[in-house]
Amino acid sequence: MCGIVAYVGERTAYPILIKGLKRLEYRGYDSAGIALMNEQTHLYKCKGKVKDLEGLVKGQEISGSIGIGHTRWATHGEPNDTNAHPHQSENGKFILVHNGIIENYSHLKKELTNRGYSFKSETDTEVLANLIENIYLEQEVSAELAVRLALTKVVGAYGLVIYCADEPGRLIAARKGSPLVIGIGENEYFMASDATPIIEYTDQVVFLNDEEVAVMDHDHFDLKNLKNDIKTPQVQKIELSIEQIDKGDYEHFMLKEIHDQPTSIEDTFRGRISMDHSKIFLGGIFDVLPKLIEARRIIILACGTSWHAGLVSEYLFEEYARVPVEVEYASEFRYRKPLIYDDDVVIAISQSGETADTLAAIRMVREQSEATILGICNVAGSSISRETDAGVYTHAGIEIGVASTKAFTAQITVLTMMAFLLGHRKKHIADSDYVQMVKALTQVPEKMREILKHEGFIKDVANKYTNVTNALYLGRGVLYPVALEGALKLKEISYIHAEGYPAAEMKHGPIALIDENMPVFVLAIKDDSYEKIISNIQEVKARNGKVVAIVTEGEKTIRKIADDVIEIPGCHRALSPLLAVVPLQIISYQIAVMRGCNVDQPRNLAKSVTVE
Ligand code: F6R
Repeated sequence: MCGIVAYVGERTAYPILIKGLKRLEYRGYDSAGIALMNEQTHLYKCKGKVKDLEGLVKGQEISGSIGIGHTRWATHGEPNDTNAHPHQSENGKFILVHNGIIENYSHLKKELTNRGYSFKSETDTEVLANLIENIYLEQEVSAELAVRLALTKVVGAYGLVIYCADEPGRLIAARKGSPLVIGIGENEYFMASDATPIIEYTDQVVFLNDEEVAVMDHDHFDLKNLKNDIKTPQVQKIELSIEQIDKGDYEHFMLKEIHDQPTSIEDTFRGRISMDHSKIFLGGIFDVLPKLIEARRIIILACGTSWHAGLVSEYLFEEYARVPVEVEYASEFRYRKPLIYDDDVVIAISQSGETADTLAAIRMVREQSEATILGICNVAGSSISRETDAGVYTHAGIEIGVASTKAFTAQITVLTMMAFLLGHRKKHIADSDYVQMVKALTQVPEKMREILKHEGFIKDVANKYTNVTNALYLGRGVLYPVALEGALKLKEISYIHAEGYPAAEMKHGPIALIDENMPVFVLAIKDDSYEKIISNIQEVKARNGKVVAIVTEGEKTIRKIADDVIEIPGCHRALSPLLAVVPLQIISYQIAVMRGCNVDQPRNLAKSVTVE
C-alpha cells in the first residue's frame, strides 16, 4: 500500500531509488515519483508504473546522492501526475513521500487554507507537507522539530521520508502505523517500506516503531520519539537474500510462488516436527501453550486470504482440539462491540503483519481484555508480530505476487500444527493417531510436487474457461474455505466474477445462476461428504452447468459426470486444503495470463493493506 524508498549517502541516489521502487511496486502501482537533491531539487513524477517514470526521467538531470521515491496506491485523489508523490510544500521548503492516510486532513487543510495556503493536488500528503512548512516558518524551529510538532496534530497512519531544502544532506523519517525500515551502510542510509530495496547494500536494519522519528545525515543517525525522548536504535540483521526476491525463470512471481509451495511448507515445519513424528514443537508459543489449552474460545482475526486460512483452521481446532472458534473479519470485529473474555485466545493471521484492520483489531482486544494474543505472520519484525504476546512465523519466504498463494498454504501449515498439537495435549488425539497425522503433514510437500507435475494438464483445463464471465466454487467442510479462496484468486487476478459457497447451500439460491455458461469448480475429494458432493454435482449437471471437479486420484464416479476432472493425491482429510488449493491457484493464474491480465499487479489492488 504505497512503497517508499529513500537514500542519503555518497552514491548516486537515482539507480538505488529506481531499483528499490521496482521491488516495492507490488505495494501499489498507479503512479510513481522521485525527488533528487543536489544544489537544486529535481522532482519527477507521473501516473503509471515505475517504467513510465524511467521514461519521463530519461535524458534529465539525475545526479545527487540524496533522494526520495514513491510508488502509489491511491487513497485520496485519483491516480494522476499531480497526485503522485513526492509532494512539495507551497514555499518549496519541504518535499516528502508518504505511505498511509491522514484522517483529519480536511480539517488541517481548512486551517492551512485560512492561513493562506493553496493546494495543487487532492492528496492528504500535500496537506502534511504544508502543515510541516507552516510550523517551520511560523515557529522558526528546526526541520526535525517542525516534523514532530506537525505529527502531533495528525490523526492517522504514516510512513514518511522528508527533505528540508534548508537542511541539505539530511533526511527525516517517521512512522506510525505504516512500516518503515532503515538500512545502515558505511556512510549511507537507506529507507524503505520493506527490506527488499535494501538487502543488496546492507543486512543491518532498524525497524522504526510507531511515533519514532529518525534524522539521518550520511554519517549520522539520531532516533527520537514524538515527545523528543532519545531512543536507542535496535539494529537487526535481516535474513533475506536477493534470490528470494528474484522470479528466476518464471514468467510471474505468482507462478514462482505457486511452485515454491512444497519448499515453503517444508520450511514452515522444518525444526518444528520431530524425526519420529511424535512431537510438534512451536517455540514461539511454547510459553503460552497452557493458555491455549485452557482457552474458553479461540477468536481468529484476519482479512482476505488470511481469513480463509483462519476458516480452514476453525474446522481443525474444533474437530481435533475441541475448542470453540470464531473467525472474524478484522474490519468487522473492530467496529462492533464484541464480547472478549480474558480467557479467550486471539490469533491474528497476516502475511504482511501490517494489515491496518487486523492491527487495529488486536489493539482493541488489548485495550478491552486480558486475552492472550497470538500472531501468525510471514514478515519477521512486522507490526502484528511485534504487538502480539507470542506467535509462530510462517517461513514462506517473501511473497511478491499481490495474489497470495504460498503464504496461504504456510498459514494453514502453522494452524494445522497448532490444532494437532493442541488436540494431542488435550488428549483428544490418541498418540498413535497423532504420529500418523503429523507424518501425513510432512508428506504434503511431496504430494504437492506431484500436482505441480501436471501443471500442463491443468492449464489445458483452464484454457476452456478463459472467456467465462462468472464462476462458482463449491466445497464442503474443511474444503469450503478453499472454495472461497479459489473464487477470490480468480476474481482478483482475472476480473471474472466468482463466488465460493458451501456446496449444500447452492440449492438455497445460487443454483438459479446455473446454465450452460456457468463453470462450477467443485472440490470433491474422497472424504465423509463425498457422496453428498456427488449429489451436488448432479444438481449442477441437471441444469447444464459445466463441472470441473478436483477429485482424489483414481476416483471413478465423478469422472463419468463431470466435464473436467483434476486429480490430487489422496491424503488425510485435515490436510486436503493444502493440496486442493493448488489446482485452483494454477487455474486462476492460467486464465488470467490467457486473458492478458497483469497477474502480479492486478488492477486496483496492492499487497499489504495499511489503510482501513
Ligand atoms: C488475496 C490477498 C489479500 C490478503 C489480505 C490480508 O490474494 O492477498 O486478500 O490476504 O489483504 O493481508 P495480510 O495477510 O497481509 O494481512
